[in-house]
Amino acid sequence: MEVGIDKIAFYTPKYYLDLVELAQARDVDPNKFTIGIGQDQQAVIPNYEDAVTMGVNAANQILTDDNRQSIGQLYFGTESGVDNSKSAAIFAAKLLNLSPYIRAMEVKEACYGGTFALMMARDYVKLHPDQKVLVLAADVARYGLDTPGEVTQGGGGIAMLVSAQPKLAVIEDESVFASRDVADFWRPVDRMAALVDGHLSTEIYKEMFADLWQRYQKQTQAEIGNFAAFAFHLPYTKMGKKALDEIIDQADEQQAERLLEALKASQAYARRVGNLYTGSLYLSLLSLLQQDAALQAGDRLALFSYGSGAEAELFTLKLQKDFKQIIAQQKVEEALDARQRLSVAEYEADFQKQLYDSSQNVESDYPKDSQDAVFTGWRDGQRIYRA
Ligand code: ACO
Repeated sequence: MEVGIDKIAFYTPKYYLDLVELAQARDVDPNKFTIGIGQDQQAVIPNYEDAVTMGVNAANQILTDDNRQSIGQLYFGTESGVDNSKSAAIFAAKLLNLSPYIRAMEVKEACYGGTFALMMARDYVKLHPDQKVLVLAADVARYGLDTPGEVTQGGGGIAMLVSAQPKLAVIEDESVFASRDVADFWRPVDRMAALVDGHLSTEIYKEMFADLWQRYQKQTQAEIGNFAAFAFHLPYTKMGKKALDEIIDQADEQQAERLLEALKASQAYARRVGNLYTGSLYLSLLSLLQQDAALQAGDRLALFSYGSGAEAELFTLKLQKDFKQIIAQQKVEEALDARQRLSVAEYEADFQKQLYDSSQNVESDYPKDSQDAVFTGWRDGQRIYRA
């Protein structure tokens, strides 16, 4: 039975920072950010948003009264969990008004958690084809002011509905994965900002991609020409190019040209949003599907998921006949265009305002008239939300 992604949605926070302006403030050549690293803008997450609100606000775009009833599980991939014990999925399930008779679980392994959630969702639906699984992948990507990682910050939420006979894409059965113990990116329990060795991470990412591609080829006899496009986890968009370069010599000239075009389509939204951590690969997928008009039903896509630490998986999708219609429902460019630009000074002030101190009953500065789910503040050590 074919199982896969029936619907996908992306939620962006309402603020962004222009990276040419950031480069000027940091006394860096802007071309380093826009060409060398491949980022133009980054999402800035206000203190009334977190992984839970961004996941919920993405899910609200694809949930209807009908499909809400058929959700049997909620899996939430995030590395920006809001509690060291309680699953972000439990907060999300309540805000989304889902049935209490579901499992609502959080999955953590850096940027790979969303992919594990997706794979678990596929396996569950194979066993229970009458049910759907809601997969959320949302994060706040943050390294700190004036750090090398600052230009690669970002954030946002992805929601995917996984079902039998999906309208968007089938997740094919064959996939290859690997784990390695590497200190390339980590977040000690008392810190919100991540620590990262970005150069090491880039090398491990490339190695694991090349290794898994070879393993996949051996297992399935696949050739690069079998795929209409590759989509990658993008900690910064240049990473996608570095990864594809590992295998592009297997393609003939025409295929290589086509794969590079498709790669560009998959990077378009990440250039404006930055890293989404668990959701990044799926924003690349959405970007690819919306920006590459040459894709057709029946085309196969190869997706590479990487989570520092490290865990990686290469898997494939087959596009379904209604995919263009489904993807047209998402107004990503409009949402990105509607964001408010912050000056570097405003972004820096916002950075200091983040509420991490659970010991006081404080409110966030959430907009009282917002229709979205918001984090309203701390009460007795608990995060409080309003749907
Ligand atoms: N014009 C054009 N290009 C330039 C210029 C310029 N003036 N100056 C530098 N560049 C290029 C460099 O040649 C280099 O290109 P290359 O990578 O193709 O060789 C690129 O810009 C970056 O320059 P570096 O000197 O390597 O930059 P830096 O030391 O500041 O590090 C990095 C960049 C590694 C991306 C850093 O921002 C970082 O660590 N970010 C975090 C990355 C991350 O998240 N890693 C974890 C991955 S997994 C996850 O998502 C959690």
